[in-house]
Amino acid sequence: MATFRLLLSLFIVNCITVIPAVNTEDPATALPAKSFQPFIPQDNYLFDCGSNSSTVLPGNRTFQPDNTTTEFLAYDGKDIQVSGGAEANANANVNASPIYRSAKVFATDATYTFPITAPGWHWIRLHFFALNATHYDLKTAKFTVETDKLVLLHQFELQNDTSVIMKEFLVNVTEERFPLKFKPKGTVAFVNAIEFVSAPNPLIGEYATLLFPVSQKFELSTHSFQTVYRLNVGGPEILTDQDSLQRIWHPDTPYLDPRQMGKNVAVSPAIISYPEVGGSPLIAPPLVYASALELADSKSVKPNFNITWRMDVNVHFWYLIRLHFCDIVSKSLNELYFNVYINDNIAISGLDLSALTRKLATAYYKDIVVNSTMVSSPLEIKISPVDDEAQGTRNAILNGVEVFKMNNSVGSLDGEFGVDGTRASDRTNGDRQTVAAVGFAMMFGSFVGLGAMAVKWRKRPQDWRRRSSFSSWLLPVHSGDATFTNPNRTPLGSRQSLFFSSTTEFGRYFSFSELQEATNNWETTKIIGIGGFGSVYLGLVDEKTKIAVKRGNPQSEQGFHEFQTEIQMLSKLRHRHLVSLIGYCDENNEMCLVYEYMSNGPLRDHLYGKNLPSLSWKQRLEICIGAARGLHYLHTGAAQGIIHRDVKSTNILLDEKFVAKMADFGLSKNASTAPEQNHVSTSVKGSFGYLDPEYFRKQQLTDKSDVYSFGVVLFEVLCARQAINPQLPRDQMNLAEWAMQWKRKGLLEKIIDPTLVGHINPESMRKFAEAAEKCLAEYGVDRPTMGDVLWNLEYALQLQEASAMGKTDEENKSFAAPNSPAVISPSTAPSNNPFSHLATE
Ligand SMILES: *[C@@H]1O[C@H](CO)[C@@H](O)[C@H](O)[C@H]1NC(C)=O
Ligand SMILES: *[C@@H]1O[C@H](CO)[C@@H](O)[C@H](O)[C@H]1NC(C)=O
Ligand SMILES: *[C@@H]1O[C@H](CO)[C@@H](O)[C@H](O)[C@H]1NC(C)=O
Repeated sequence: MATFRLLLSLFIVNCITVIPAVNTEDPATALPAKSFQPFIPQDNYLFDCGSNSSTVLPGNRTFQPDNTTTEFLAYDGKDIQVSGGAEANANANVNASPIYRSAKVFATDATYTFPITAPGWHWIRLHFFALNATHYDLKTAKFTVETDKLVLLHQFELQNDTSVIMKEFLVNVTEERFPLKFKPKGTVAFVNAIEFVSAPNPLIGEYATLLFPVSQKFELSTHSFQTVYRLNVGGPEILTDQDSLQRIWHPDTPYLDPRQMGKNVAVSPAIISYPEVGGSPLIAPPLVYASALELADSKSVKPNFNITWRMDVNVHFWYLIRLHFCDIVSKSLNELYFNVYINDNIAISGLDLSALTRKLATAYYKDIVVNSTMVSSPLEIKISPVDDEAQGTRNAILNGVEVFKMNNSVGSLDGEFGVDGTRASDRTNGDRQTVAAVGFAMMFGSFVGLGAMAVKWRKRPQDWRRRSSFSSWLLPVHSGDATFTNPNRTPLGSRQSLFFSSTTEFGRYFSFSELQEATNNWETTKIIGIGGFGSVYLGLVDEKTKIAVKRGNPQSEQGFHEFQTEIQMLSKLRHRHLVSLIGYCDENNEMCLVYEYMSNGPLRDHLYGKNLPSLSWKQRLEICIGAARGLHYLHTGAAQGIIHRDVKSTNILLDEKFVAKMADFGLSKNASTAPEQNHVSTSVKGSFGYLDPEYFRKQQLTDKSDVYSFGVVLFEVLCARQAINPQLPRDQMNLAEWAMQWKRKGLLEKIIDPTLVGHINPESMRKFAEAAEKCLAEYGVDRPTMGDVLWNLEYALQLQEASAMGKTDEENKSFAAPNSPAVISPSTAPSNNPFSHLATE
């Protein structure tokens, strides 16, 4: 086995790639809505206030009258019940819901108390409608509604609003008795109906993701929420009896701006399924997922095309935004791939529903917390296709969105005062200044997402390491027609569609003769790469599909079962930015691996040494972003904790559309395992010039070693020179050291690729170089995660694009003229140190 493993790890060079593979995962991981248990609330208090008899609403929900004689209501004042006659009936809304036909009016403080049988999340729904009462003008009522700890409504007024108003809250109740206090602040307080009902605890997950600092975890259980928007995107209104938790979902059209950007799509709700783990129709009913908005015209879309929803919010509060997605637009997996922005900050980068749900028409949601410094009104939610995507169709979807306001620091959901009168600290003012600064900067147009700059780069906990390790030496395997467990391993007829038909876990089985034919009997002119133990051939199968075939040493011995286990593991890795294996052959001591062909070869060839047309800065950024996504997926994605081990510009391959994919994963281990396993092997894998210095010191490989190597690649991309050039003087030989010297002097622009001069936005370059510098930190803990790097690169791209739109032409010009003599590149530099005159600090 050892021999074979070695063979394989050397085997993988540069070619190959991703086919829009059919997913081969266990189909039992997603279930239809009806296979989930319905929810029966343990606490279920429904009051039709001011009514003399009970009222039954659709869905068989009985609202009881709230007599002051019951244990639930404590009130010393006169019991005032009002009911609307003809006037109320004239109002269509009231007609629709009889609970609005009566109200309880309070002239002094009144308290409803609910005994709790099951602690946890509860809905509080308060219904108001200003009935025309003889002695009281409810339209001018003004009052506060509080619990023991929480202000729900502060000096609430209807302001002559004659429509029906429902306020919905979600609170985590821990007490045995839960009070709800109505406090008149003018003449009277009133309420038409109250719901106080248990909500399923999984409704609110333990954590959400912060919009900023990027993707940091945020604990939800201690917060209280008020629903401010709940939209069934692209679909009709969903009423209480169509939602198992009696929620109302409104159509999204009033918030869509401009409307023509999006197009409604809908499927039968019966086809929607939910992930068996962590999914449930209680999160949102199938009706929500069965409709969506997609890009109106995905073919003719311009760059930056997006669909935007705008919703007014109160900028003094934090918000929880729950986005619902379900791929009901794709014909097959891996077609859809898009970005989500909130207030112009990237909220979800490269959302790949296929990778997450592994099945079409499967529900997925994501919770994002936006803190008040990042909130502006209107709140903008955008979906936009990923530009660098060659594989999928350019599209983006959204199925539903919920926006919840979160209580502030003094426990209020309305206004700045807590129940005890304490005022939310001046921090709020500070927050607003930041927002003002952001707004100011945006006005001047340099870019989106400036808020980030005000805050220092944050380190994230290294908790990903909890995952167990495994070794892997290969590339992901995609679908195919044959399986290793088939004793005969007979290749299926190759007439069958090669890559799209599989239901098995492994790659397609190729017969040796098939590969022989595909490569013109291993013709030497077909060799596109040579590794230590074998060559890589360009081949053609099924008359049209280009493949890259690595043919191993025919003498090699290998344990078939171990090989199988490894491939199985690798089949779990599947990502657009990872080069992937599509099949294999082992026959008569011949061992071949088959990949799709990556026509533009390694990134390095496009940077230097090959005289290929120079890549634009935007292209370079997109390539780096793609590669970073691939690495981020290895580190944190489905399989978690995989370390590439050999990140370098020759292992970043480009397909015909210059989409970057990571190739040649190393023998990957995770640092959380026992100390003796911490170092992978005595044979150091990795390449000179890219190696993490800490890895040398500690013999310990972590994901941060990849981050270091990636930092070197970033400088390679910026400066267009080798990581190590032994021909240069000692102090210039090592790119990482050399670039860092110039970065520290603040003169990095002097050493950038001359072809970029005048075409690179200085802010974008600065952000990029900053990311590269962080990656090269001496100690792993000080380096960012790939997620952070990714975010910063996206940001650098946004800066570049903003400037490309002409806003910062002036800056471009003043930055460096195209033929500025101050620019020195290593290729033109004389070999004695030309920089000594600049080296004075
Ligand atoms: C409610 O809050 C308590 C105390 O903070 C916590 O222990 C509990 O887990 C929370 N419940 C839920 C369902 O989040
Ligand atoms: C969204 O589209 C608008 C108008 O087409 C454009 O100005 C804006 O830059 C786009 N935003 C993003 C984040 O792509
Ligand atoms: C909401 O209130 C809880 C205490 O009840 C507090 O811990 C939390 O920080 C508050 N939320 C915000 C966003 O300030």
